[in-house]
Amino acid sequence: MSQPLRLGIAGLGTVGAGVVKIIQQQATLLTMRTGREITISAISARTRKKDRGVDLSGYGWEDDPVALARRDDVDVYVELMGGSNGPAKASIQAALDAGKDVVTANKALLALHGQMLAEKAEAAGSVIRYEAAVAGGIPVIKALAEGLAGNKISRVMGVMNGTCNYILTRMEATGQGYNALFDEANKLGYLEADPNLDVGGIDAGHKLSLLSALAFGTQVDFDGVELEGIQRIALEDIRQAADMGYRIKLLGVAQMTDRGLEQRMSPCLVPANSPLGQLEGGTNMVVIEGDSVGQIVLRGAGAGEGPTASAVLGDICDIARGYRYPVFGQPATSLVAAQRAQSVLAAPYYIRLSLRDKPGALAKIASILGEAGVSIHRMRQYDHVNDIAPVLLVTHKTTRAELDVALTGIEKTDVVTEAPVALRIETV
Ligand code: HSE
Repeated sequence: MSQPLRLGIAGLGTVGAGVVKIIQQQATLLTMRTGREITISAISARTRKKDRGVDLSGYGWEDDPVALARRDDVDVYVELMGGSNGPAKASIQAALDAGKDVVTANKALLALHGQMLAEKAEAAGSVIRYEAAVAGGIPVIKALAEGLAGNKISRVMGVMNGTCNYILTRMEATGQGYNALFDEANKLGYLEADPNLDVGGIDAGHKLSLLSALAFGTQVDFDGVELEGIQRIALEDIRQAADMGYRIKLLGVAQMTDRGLEQRMSPCLVPANSPLGQLEGGTNMVVIEGDSVGQIVLRGAGAGEGPTASAVLGDICDIARGYRYPVFGQPATSLVAAQRAQSVLAAPYYIRLSLRDKPGALAKIASILGEAGVSIHRMRQYDHVNDIAPVLLVTHKTTRAELDVALTGIEKTDVVTEAPVALRIETV
């Protein structure tokens, strides 16, 4: 049998402890599958004392993850600390400098520094694997880099933040507003330390930028992702969407168009009977469209100890088997800088307005939309409460530029009490 594959694991939170558990509990299975024993040489975490439900007594300890990454008895450095800079970045760089392979779940780090790290790894003959960084337990990186390698990918879409999907689907199920469900998600421990990473769409945007690089052979371009969070979604929007046969999802879409690469992460209306529309709770879904395969749908747990540790182990097993390929599926030096699409494809939009009860108020809105070239497809006005009425509109297909002109114009009038909410209706 080959030499054992020796790991150094940095970070013993939910995922790190989960990885240690699988390595301890499934040792025989892992050895049978990879032909090697998978061992842990040493670990590093904030504190050694905390009870994590796993026996750590047989492992070395390093306070400093950089020292762990450099240890001679570590073949693979497993970074599960998180953070886009600081110790995570420094230790991964140290591991690559020392000729180690790297496994990480760190989407933020790769979204911001993926190109640099991939070039560094490939120059050193090392690999960086990151299945756990995108959509938790769903093997979407493998799907794109391996199973679909023979396809020209046209579009990748996904609901990749379970917390947002939990909040949105619970709003619909319970009739409670955004703030109440945000608090509930917080109590359940679903929110990141900085909740804006979740509800602001940033975490899901990081993930989308990694999938784009793999799908389209472009350098990771997180700054090119148009980001919008779910904070302004009201119960009314969810109810109205349901009434029209749609559900609201924080949806990531990446597509290569003849105008360049379009990447957006925003709340959208999707048909309620589509796979994306039927997604409940904290589950993730990724939809990939390729020229030969057509459309495939991957669904599963996007977070949590077992699913995320499962993805980390998949990467470790590949390295143990000697299975290696470039970080983004083709050599990092061959990835081209993404040409950002200057405008997104035209689509119908849903608009919610809070309209004052004044003669001519609606006429003013209709005329601003008309002047901007936005045509109304459907419209509904509800009863006034305290002289304010919700008005809900669905437009015909319009460009975002035309819509933005109209929204700016509407916001400047004296007939609305707040900025309009506009959500794209996505064809999925
Ligand atoms: N906070 C993420 C989510 C999981 O809610 O899906 C980690 O990316």
